Amino acid sequence: MIALSSDHAGFPLKESIKQFLDEKGILYVDCGAYSPASVDYPYQAKKACDLVVSGVCEKAVLCCGTGIGISMAANKVRGIRAACCSDYFSAKYTRLHNDANVLCLGARVIGPGAANELVDVFLSTAFEGGRHQKRVDQITEIENMQ
Ligand code: RB5
Repeated sequence: MIALSSDHAGFPLKESIKQFLDEKGILYVDCGAYSPASVDYPYQAKKACDLVVSGVCEKAVLCCGTGIGISMAANKVRGIRAACCSDYFSAKYTRLHNDANVLCLGARVIGPGAANELVDVFLSTAFEGGRHQKRVDQITEIENMQ
């Protein structure tokens, strides 16, 4: 199960990602926005991230205008490793090397076709582990120092 969330700016991209996930038969929980009406991205990020941290969802995809604000908010949630990506290589390697559990996309940065490719590679790429595990553990250690 994938958690989806957006603010008003990310709403159209989230809706097109839903269509893509439907075509692929991937189940999701839609945390809103449910319309283009203005809604602030920080708590939209938290809603989806809480589902990841609690184990209800394995990953989340978040959309705002740039992908940046919603990724900043997501990374404040303990246990979340959110990556804001607009290219295929980054979306792939943030899974391979960072074990990212949240992908953030900018609806004003990339179009729906590119977004679908990023979502696809993000959801289908496994964490490589090995030498990358201790680095991910260090991220958690820093989180636990706060
Ligand atoms: C909303 O206008 C916009 O600021 C927001 O979607 C996002 O881009 C923030 O990072």
